Amino acid sequence: MKTVLVTGADGQLGKCIKDVAKSTEKIQFIYTNSSELDITNKASVFSFFADEKIDYCINCAAYTAVDKAESEIEKATKINADGVQNLAEICKETETILIHISTDFVFDGTKNTPYLETNKTNPKGVYGSTKLQGEEAIKNVLKKYFIIRTSWLYSEYGSNFMKTMLKLGKDKNKLSVVNDQKGTPTYAVDLAKVILKIIETNSNNFGIYHYSNKGVTTWYEFAQEIFKESKIPIDLKSVTTEEYPTAAERPKYSVLDSSKIKNDLQIEIHFWKKNLKKALQNFSKYEKNQK
Ligand SMILES: NC(=O)c1ccc[n+]([C@@H]2O[C@H](COP(=O)([O-])OP(=O)(O)OC[C@H]3O[C@@H](n4cnc5c(N)ncnc54)[C@H](OP(=O)(O)O)[C@@H]3O)[C@@H](O)[C@H]2O)c1
Repeated sequence: MKTVLVTGADGQLGKCIKDVAKSTEKIQFIYTNSSELDITNKASVFSFFADEKIDYCINCAAYTAVDKAESEIEKATKINADGVQNLAEICKETETILIHISTDFVFDGTKNTPYLETNKTNPKGVYGSTKLQGEEAIKNVLKKYFIIRTSWLYSEYGSNFMKTMLKLGKDKNKLSVVNDQKGTPTYAVDLAKVILKIIETNSNNFGIYHYSNKGVTTWYEFAQEIFKESKIPIDLKSVTTEEYPTAAERPKYSVLDSSKIKNDLQIEIHFWKKNLKKALQNFSKYEKNQK
């Protein structure tokens, strides 16, 4: 039986992996949150791996506060770069395959066609550049790794755009959302399935991959679809990036080309609108269960 360690397991993606993993029987999962295994603490990372043979490590641990990162460079670097370096080193020593999640923010967003894995990276802010440092650490240390760059992740768990819109939709009757940044929303449950497929199929096509759902949209159109599907009446106004300044600069265009992972793993990639419907239904069930 394979043993799979999931770090940062209490985050959005970690929780989706827990849900999806319920349908797999042949894998033993070890889930750790930041207090059980802090990836920035090299000694505890090394001693954790000494206890048991771990075949795969799925790293869901990350510093993900994009704007806050601009003023917390040290913290973001410690988690997204140094922590990932620790994992890469122990994975090398213990022959563990590392599956790491990265981001569309490694690109500057100046292209106008989907980004390929081979395109030049050029992050615009601290978050993107620390995530890129994490990627570099893995590439320098390991041969057996999967780095999956994804975009606009959302689900019923954690903090994400879908949940923020639903909350604002309850509290406000007017809202302005940016309409000149293009990308693709990705349902984190889909990403979790892709990660498990890599493990279940014993894929040895190591390297960097892009994975997002299908289609291209803007934050404004994403919000519009969330309110339409949830039947929330709201006066939604489209604004430009200039009209909605943020601490961190966002890529104007961050659509990822997912053909490589689609072909390698023989997977179907769903259109983002179809998945949003599913996510809204699952969120509503989840909320009812929480009550
Ligand atoms: N969210 C997006 O839109 C998006 C888009 C593209 C890529 N990604 C990438 O996708 C991955 C998963 O993102 P997500 O949305 O699941 O993020 P998330 O919900 O913020 O989860 C990150 C988890 O990492 C944990 N963590 C932080 N520092 C840690 C440490 N030192 N040791 C162990 N765990 C630590 C956090 O725990 P605490 O809360 O206890 O600190 C949190 O549970 C990340 O690599 C992210 O960069 C996300």
